[in-house]
Amino acid sequence: MTIQEITLEKLNPQEFIAQQVEAISTAVGDGLAINALSGGVDSSTVTLLAHKALGKRLLTVFVENGIMRKGEPQRIVERFKALGVPVQLIDARADFFAALKGLADPEEKREAITQTFYKTVFGELVRESGAKYLLHGTILTDVDETVAGIKRQHNILTQLGIDTEEVYGYQVIEPLLQLRKPAVRAVAKALGLSEEVYNRMPFPGPALAARVIGEVTPERTEIVREATAIVEEELADTGAFQYLAILHQDKVTGMRDDKRDYGHQIEVRCWESEDARTGSPTRLPFDTLERLADRITSEVPGVVSVTYSITKKPPSTIEAI
Ligand code: XMP
Repeated sequence: MTIQEITLEKLNPQEFIAQQVEAISTAVGDGLAINALSGGVDSSTVTLLAHKALGKRLLTVFVENGIMRKGEPQRIVERFKALGVPVQLIDARADFFAALKGLADPEEKREAITQTFYKTVFGELVRESGAKYLLHGTILTDVDETVAGIKRQHNILTQLGIDTEEVYGYQVIEPLLQLRKPAVRAVAKALGLSEEVYNRMPFPGPALAARVIGEVTPERTEIVREATAIVEEELADTGAFQYLAILHQDKVTGMRDDKRDYGHQIEVRCWESEDARTGSPTRLPFDTLERLADRITSEVPGVVSVTYSITKKPPSTIEAI
């Protein structure tokens, strides 16, 4: 089945909102739907569309999977509370780290996250709440890359022929399926979300696990979480499309206080891109790169090396896994 794209040029945001609110309302009827908010522009947009359509018949949850950015779960819950949308914070850290234990292969890690999310966490939520529908922020680019076999986006199910009703016990509704990022931002803006949300930098579904090469443990996630916070702070004014920190699997020899210090390597990436399908590295000033290296090596315990990626996408991808 080909999905008909609604380009930014063709999009009438208000009309789109009215149509989707109506469609969600019709699909869910007088039942209950669950929606997973991650705080990104896609899931924030779906949350508001579904809230408009369903009001109290919508249960919005934020799944704390242990691989989110620093302070993110609490920040997002507060932001939506201020918009009048109650969000339940679900602590599923133990489930996710148990599923990721011992895995180093990128696709196996993505699959473990997908299963934990849809089967373990949502399966239970659905059983407990009696909801029959899960609302999803899948966009067209996610579908393209998964179907093309480039990388399995963790939110793609039906397009891969997975019958969610049969496998997980609920149906999936995907209101943003015909849009790419620029159009989603326009809808988010029209819904009244703040610029901080509609212009938010993309963040991957598998969260920081997409930036940990090798096994994703709580300790290794903490290293990349701290490095990410520094990168986001230092590069906030660059206007770049996306910037991130990656933790490498191999350790390297370094030195500290005249002693050998065998430690971690962090790779920084900063991208210029329109829609994430292609990208090129931002020509950051050398002073900025030096500041990043100084801060990451002094503030993140155990890091002895910081590198900057100068590779385009393709052949690189934006994230590491
Ligand atoms: P890649 O690494 O494939 O990333 O060049 C392209 C864009 O998509 C984001 N990304 C994801 N987004 N689920 C998402 O919702 C995912 O599984 C996922 N993987 C990557 C990435 O951050 C970039 O903006």
